[in-house]
Amino acid sequence: MDDANGLLSSSASTKRGRDPIFAMLSKCQAAAAAGADVVNGTIGALLEDDGSLAINATYVDAIKASQAVDVAAYSPLAGLPDFNDLLVELALGPERPTLLDHLSARAMATPGGGGALKLTAANLVESGGVVLMRDRHWGPYLGFLGEAGLGRRTWPLLGPNGADVDVKGFEAALQTTVSEQSQVLVWLNDPAHNPTGLSLQAESRADLLEAMVDSALEHPKVGHSLMIDAAYTLYADEPHGWATTLAEAMDAGMMWPENLMLLWAVSLSKSHTAYGARCGGLVALHPDIEALDRVYEAFAVTGRGTWSGPPRAPQSAAVGVHEDAELASAWSDRLDVLTDLLARRRTALLEACASRGVSLNPTHDGFFAWLEHEHPSDVVDRCASRHVYLVALNGGVRIGLCAMPEASMERVADVMAEALEVVG
Ligand SMILES: Cc1ncc(COP(=O)(O)O)c(C=O)c1O
Repeated sequence: MDDANGLLSSSASTKRGRDPIFAMLSKCQAAAAAGADVVNGTIGALLEDDGSLAINATYVDAIKASQAVDVAAYSPLAGLPDFNDLLVELALGPERPTLLDHLSARAMATPGGGGALKLTAANLVESGGVVLMRDRHWGPYLGFLGEAGLGRRTWPLLGPNGADVDVKGFEAALQTTVSEQSQVLVWLNDPAHNPTGLSLQAESRADLLEAMVDSALEHPKVGHSLMIDAAYTLYADEPHGWATTLAEAMDAGMMWPENLMLLWAVSLSKSHTAYGARCGGLVALHPDIEALDRVYEAFAVTGRGTWSGPPRAPQSAAVGVHEDAELASAWSDRLDVLTDLLARRRTALLEACASRGVSLNPTHDGFFAWLEHEHPSDVVDRCASRHVYLVALNGGVRIGLCAMPEASMERVADVMAEALEVVG
């Protein structure tokens, strides 16, 4: 029944929840329960080699030790001021003082990076329009767009000859969009892209920024917002690369168009291993604080009408960890260990694939690697028949390095090589 006996509105009756990731996870769990020796590459959370959830205990313990008032009381709607300050620090890192010499910053706490995506979709482009993103992207982006009455316009993930960026493709998408809309919003999940693990190099970041600035200067009546979805950034080699790119551009005399805003969707889900705590936020930079204040007033109204207020205890706990030198260093040491775990898994997979002629997409940081393929479902079904469970998405296969032990990579590569031979 499409409308649930008339209970669902016509717009809601088009909403379907067949998530390919959870479908394959169920298959894997059923096989494991039946005694199969499975490799589970479907999960999007970082697991230890023994399959248990990897925890950064410094932060999780800080949440557990929260003061009663932090658990019981409301948070200010836009978040605790000290947490907002921390959000700016997490987004900009060491470039913060340089950037804030020239620009103003605002931040708002949200229930995870997902909340930040919601704020931009709801406010930075007219309903009925499109948001720009690369053609390989996190699937739930479509849900955020659907809820906001928006569509997407994509440009290719990779450029000619396997370059990490397709600047011409981006410019073309931008040009079409500025001719149709009074605002342009770009969602760029970088570094450590989900689902490929791609991280843009400095030059590519600079090229994309320049294209955005040029477009904003050429179309002064069109609002331009570039949102960096930084969900995995603290696991990347250059965690604050976008702040560096911006600082370098400003150093080189970049003219900041007043119709341009740069934003960072910050998530503590991965960096602090606190997926369920729903903690994150949205940071924006612009030269004019009054313009930012107005934008954040609108964001606060969306937050109030969507999730009411953000959870308070995870914010206080994060502030407590980052304000205490010893705790901050324990958290950061553990982050280094987890980053190294991912790097070892990635190297092992890349080597095993290379020696078997399985050619993966460029992959550098974060939780995933990617096999581009026209028939991803056939590939993952074949792999699943050998009890290696991966996820078929639009255009390829997502390999969850975050969930697979280093020692399984040879087997994963063997099974993928065999699947590719069969499927073609
Ligand atoms: C690309 C990307 N962006 C944003 C998020 C948002 O995560 P959260 O809402 O848990 O902070 C995720 C989580 O998986 C993600 O993969």
